Amino acid sequence: MATETRINTETVLEVEDLRTYFRTRWGTVKAVDGISFDLRKGETLGIVGESGCGKSVTMLSLMRLIPTPPGRIVSGKIILDGDDLVQLSENELGKIRGSKIALIIQDPMTSLNPVFTIGDQVEEAIKIHQDIPKRSVMEHALQVLRKVNIPAAESRMKDYPHQMSGGMRQRVVGAIGISCQPKVLIADEPTTSLDVTIQAQYLKLLKDLQKDSDMSLIFITHDFGIVAKMCDRVAVMYAGRIVEHGSVRDIFNNPSHPYTAALLASVPKMDVDVDRLFSIEGQPPPLHNLPVGCSFADRCPVVMDKCREAYPNRSTVSDGHTAACWKLE
Ligand SMILES: Nc1ncnc2c1ncn2[C@@H]1O[C@H](COP(=O)(O)OP(=O)(O)OP(=O)(O)O)[C@@H](O)[C@H]1O
Ligand SMILES: [Mg+2]
Repeated sequence: MATETRINTETVLEVEDLRTYFRTRWGTVKAVDGISFDLRKGETLGIVGESGCGKSVTMLSLMRLIPTPPGRIVSGKIILDGDDLVQLSENELGKIRGSKIALIIQDPMTSLNPVFTIGDQVEEAIKIHQDIPKRSVMEHALQVLRKVNIPAAESRMKDYPHQMSGGMRQRVVGAIGISCQPKVLIADEPTTSLDVTIQAQYLKLLKDLQKDSDMSLIFITHDFGIVAKMCDRVAVMYAGRIVEHGSVRDIFNNPSHPYTAALLASVPKMDVDVDRLFSIEGQPPPLHNLPVGCSFADRCPVVMDKCREAYPNRSTVSDGHTAACWKLE
């Protein structure tokens, strides 16, 4: 398991009651519906949850990159380094994106432009955010590419994205992400398109880069194995909300929301021989038509009447470990 409980408790990012909605012809999609968490210096926070639960929308909101319309941050605060990003102008955000907070998006191919060379793209990221003399930009780009272990970086700078392997492209995207030494790096499932060996190398690389600069990392993944290896704390999302939050050890040893317990039970284990893997029955509710009470009620094995009447408050399970479930109140 990842080494947890670091001494450093300096908060870098604080998200408070964030809500991001999309207006669609079916109604208002409440993709993120009241999320709060904080991120400490040098730590890695994992975000897990089924497809469609709002992980990417949360991260795009942190970057203020929600397409408007149809989307909009309807309320909440995103405090980074004393600034509330929700209130900043596009001009002010331009200075913060990349330099203070950066995002590695889900698909490395779509985040690289096929018609520009790798060198051009890394240099461009550096030029936008850093005030360094023109002649040093190329040298800086080269250094960043070497940092992410691109072999023969100097000649690779002239390559186009399609001339590189998937793993290498992913590392180039990582290089762009770290090129301006952001305080917070968000990696949205950065390893799904990589094979297992390359994936392990990439994760190690991210960890090493983090150690070098004391960067804070938000790591979105479906894979609990990656959570165990990479993260200090975890937030479990369900239907636009965080249903459980705690250290990796809390979440693995004492999952307290029935959804977290079900997610963990659906992870295959090497040492247990099972005929059929456990899967959570049913589907999450549509985000444009959420039920009145707990969103998990229809799938919950321990549902009670009051779960269908009101959404549960966050209860404290232990120090730093919370879950929103009526069973705990
Ligand atoms: N531009 C948009 N217009 C309307 N709805 C949107 C838009 N972008 C996202 N959504 C909705 O927001 C919800 C959350 O989507 P999101 O992409 O955050 O899920 P996710 O948790 O990242 O899923 P995955 O694990 O598949 O990446 C989904 O119901 C999605 O349909
Ligand atoms: Mg996503």
